[in-house]
Amino acid sequence: MIRSVFHRLLTAVSGRPAAALAALVLCGAAQGCGRQEAQFTHRAGFENLMPEAQSYVHEALEQHFGTPTQVVAWEQLPIKLHAAAGAVGAAPDARSIAVNYSQQNLPIEPGLQTAWLSGPLLQSQGDPAWVEAVDVAGRIMFEQPLASVPAEGDRVAIGPGEVLRYGRVLYAEHCQHCHGVSGDAQGPTASYLNPRPRDFRRGIFKFTTTTASNRASRADLARVIENGVPGTYMPSFKLLSDAESMAIIEYVLFLSMRGEVEYQLVTQLGNDYSNQAVKDRIDGGETRKGILDEFTGMVNGGDMQEQFNETVESIVTRWVEANEPEAIIVPGAKRPPATPESIARGRMLYLSQDLNCVACHGEAALGDGPQSYSITKNAAGEDNPTPGLYDEWGNLVKPRNLTQGIYRGGRRPIDLFARLHGGIKGTPMPAFGGKKTDEELWDLVNYILSVPFEVRHPGDGLKEARPVVEDVEQVATR
Ligand code: HEC
Ligand code: HEC
Repeated sequence: MIRSVFHRLLTAVSGRPAAALAALVLCGAAQGCGRQEAQFTHRAGFENLMPEAQSYVHEALEQHFGTPTQVVAWEQLPIKLHAAAGAVGAAPDARSIAVNYSQQNLPIEPGLQTAWLSGPLLQSQGDPAWVEAVDVAGRIMFEQPLASVPAEGDRVAIGPGEVLRYGRVLYAEHCQHCHGVSGDAQGPTASYLNPRPRDFRRGIFKFTTTTASNRASRADLARVIENGVPGTYMPSFKLLSDAESMAIIEYVLFLSMRGEVEYQLVTQLGNDYSNQAVKDRIDGGETRKGILDEFTGMVNGGDMQEQFNETVESIVTRWVEANEPEAIIVPGAKRPPATPESIARGRMLYLSQDLNCVACHGEAALGDGPQSYSITKNAAGEDNPTPGLYDEWGNLVKPRNLTQGIYRGGRRPIDLFARLHGGIKGTPMPAFGGKKTDEELWDLVNYILSVPFEVRHPGDGLKEARPVVEDVEQVATR
């Protein structure tokens, strides 16, 4: 574990009470506190807001998330923040405490700070308490006697915000040059890559084992980081220790949630307080002063705070839900053996008008179906600028060439089952979960896995080249 003197530079900051803000500003990367080398940048659309709205968004983000080198550990986020946390156990004294842990994320090492969590605000009580050692019974011994002895049951964090700080350092080392300081996929290497690195700020991840309506689970992120994304520049990080990948995952979640909050704020404020909206309102007879007074009133009167809290709440809920067992795709049937019959059934489904895989992937599954070269529509129903399919981030995405046998989300049958069931999020690849039975999805999986091994002879038509059951041709031409 990377350790530094910055453990000691922890300061408690107080937030607005209504924000239920548990904010500890942590000095992050080794460059040091105060000097701010790395900055979070704002998303597209931010610049279009009127200056007062820009300031509001900037401050709200900085208060709740901090800066890359001074990350704020905000207790409201469903993120593992501290090295460990729990409640003070029996018989605390000035030199040592026992802890009943609710979370143990990183090893407790000498030099970590201990903070008492009082109310919604994280506060270091009295003199800072530094861990000197942990005895055989797990009791934490302090370097100096505590100024005041905590009560049994008091909430306590050891290494407050340490997971984020650690994650941030590792992210800067391994991920940032592609995924960018803000998780915006604007790192210096990114412009050379196709497909582009993921922009985390929409909270959308493509290869998940969660159902179509859910966010990614921690296990999904862990799998992508461990295995990489085959066939792309996303490398495998198998050599990271468990603690390292845990911390990186939490930091990716942190960047995602920060990005989502920003996206929501910019979108909400854009309706009434973009430069264009203000101009339109003035053209409609309002005064600039009136608009400004209204905005200031909302900020000072608590309306903005309320809206902010609701926004955060809904973002938080989605991430919490994604990690619950109900969110995970569990096949209701066992995979049948990949017999010629199952493969043939899968192929029929593939060719069927109903599922229309062919429209994107093409009859021979080369990824060359008509939609891959037609003008398609974007989310707003407008024509896309060039032919082909686009993802949520506005990047062209080709339907996969299934003859190559390279699967970005993993090649285990269960991976492909999850892709078919939940779709590939943020892309045109649909979810077939509600549409077909699990048995049928397994037949499709067996078919997909057979495609790279189909025997093709020169001059073969579709019919000869593949395992055929009687009505495939009918289905294909229906
Ligand atoms: C060399 C560039 C590069 C580096 C370094 C890199 N990535 Fe990626 N990453 C990518 C690309 C490219 C993709 C998009 C792959 C795709 O869309 O199929 C991606 C995708 C992802 C995804 C999204 C997966 C999904 O299901 O949507 C996550 C999460 C991710 N990377 C995390 C990380 C983390 C964490 C690190 C550092 C430990 C890292 N990446 C390092 C290039 C990189
Ligand atoms: C509307 C277009 C569309 C349809 C319909 C469609 N796909 Fe896809 N499919 C895509 C796109 C686009 C991708 C690549 C997404 C990405 O990685 O960004 C993809 C990717 C895939 C992958 C690759 C998964 C991986 O891990 O790399 C498989 C397998 C797949 N599709 C199978 C199917 C099957 C089977 C059907 C029909 C049941 C189907 N698709 C229907 C557009 C489509």
